[in-house]
Amino acid sequence: MTTTHEFWLAGRRASGDGDFEVRNPWDGRLVGRVAVPTEAQVEEALAAAVDALPVFAATPAHVRTAALDHVAKRLAERSEEIARLITAENGKPIKWARGEVGRAVSVFRWAAEEARRTNGETMRLDTDPGGTGRFAVVRRFPRGVVLGIAPFNFPLNLVAHKVAPAIAVGAPIILKPAPATPLSALVLGEILAETDLPAGAWSVLPVPNDRMPALVQDKRLPVISFTGSDKVGYQIMDSVPRKHVTLELGGNAAAVVLADWSSDADLEWAAARIATFANYQGGQSCISVQRVIADATVYDALVEKVVAKVQAQVTGDPEDEATEVGPLVDENAAKRVESWVDDAVAKGAKLLTGGTREGASFAPTVLAELPSDAILATAEVFGPVLSLQKVDGTDEAFAAVNDSLFGLQAGVFTHDVQTAFRAHRELEVGGVIIGDAPSYRADQMPYGGVKDSGVGREGVRYAMDDYTQEKVLVLTGLDL
Ligand code: SIN
Repeated sequence: MTTTHEFWLAGRRASGDGDFEVRNPWDGRLVGRVAVPTEAQVEEALAAAVDALPVFAATPAHVRTAALDHVAKRLAERSEEIARLITAENGKPIKWARGEVGRAVSVFRWAAEEARRTNGETMRLDTDPGGTGRFAVVRRFPRGVVLGIAPFNFPLNLVAHKVAPAIAVGAPIILKPAPATPLSALVLGEILAETDLPAGAWSVLPVPNDRMPALVQDKRLPVISFTGSDKVGYQIMDSVPRKHVTLELGGNAAAVVLADWSSDADLEWAAARIATFANYQGGQSCISVQRVIADATVYDALVEKVVAKVQAQVTGDPEDEATEVGPLVDENAAKRVESWVDDAVAKGAKLLTGGTREGASFAPTVLAELPSDAILATAEVFGPVLSLQKVDGTDEAFAAVNDSLFGLQAGVFTHDVQTAFRAHRELEVGGVIIGDAPSYRADQMPYGGVKDSGVGREGVRYAMDDYTQEKVLVLTGLDL
């Protein structure tokens, strides 16, 4: 019999009213059942978070950092078990799942470091006669209880990016994991429950999506940190214009290969990185490579290498050590990707490899000459599909990158430092990666987008800033 996983209500286990299934996308096997919190339990978690706010915000840094360090240590100790769980619930190949756990360890470590060195700032006020004898201290305090809504594609690490900064600043958090992948977040709850954080400081509530609008509207949750689709993200933001909302949304990230990136070794590296990062996690990352924009002088040589490397990606059972590309999150997702590729081909795109589906798995796919009316030309595919575009020169390449509704990250393969700075200035994205695919992310970096890719930034310190606001203390009558 499969056990029903309890959830975490104000730091303690609770079983709810009914449950739902979590199935392995690779073989449909039942991975677990998860209890659903009742309305009354959600209310209890919320009331506990509100009560915890003043206590938690005033908690000494050593208490918060001890908890964060503990979580990092325990995630590392349990890393293989958790990686296997991520693979089972998400279908992510085991080698990528291990990488995800390693990153979550780093997020909690960084949060501990940042919590230790958050000092606020001081400001002299005697710069005008009226400020004589006055001095200010500026510190940041939590805006209130955080509602964190996490996606399925990084079921542990994108949860970590919501929870760790909240603990670091002493802001209680209600975390809602994705319905397809709640199990890793519940294990994180087990580890959090080993700490001395105040009751109410955190809850992990697998609330069904259709019950979320009430939580989103709840005035006791003034901060919402959402990662997911642009449609849902902007619905949330538009429905609560007075709340502080961070949206980490989609992208159709471009990798640009410029004329100076032309030696055989250069193109080998670019092709290898593009092939890997168009397909990792089945392309289900907001910064996976969807568009390759290559200068005409390197285009043909690059295409040959990219296609060969995409064809060499090892597909199959995500539990196999060698597998690089597993299934998508479910069969419907794979069917959608298939229909978009079919749409592109019907409208005149050239299919260079891939294009086939088996259950929830979609073959790594490369398209060229994508017509502008194809769905894939504008939408985020969130699948293992990339399209190749030939351009003349840097102006045209950068214009092509910016010709997108999205703007999360871009990769630019160039050796020229001036071009690197130009890319930084001109590309309409939240981050530019030089000499690599757009998919590079170190968890302490500011991460987030412009345009339809969202607002606000994650990356530990940046999320801490987001969850807090400055408050000034003015001291008067001082001999300075
Ligand atoms: C995302 O899909 O937005 C997260 C990408 C990452 O953390 O690497």
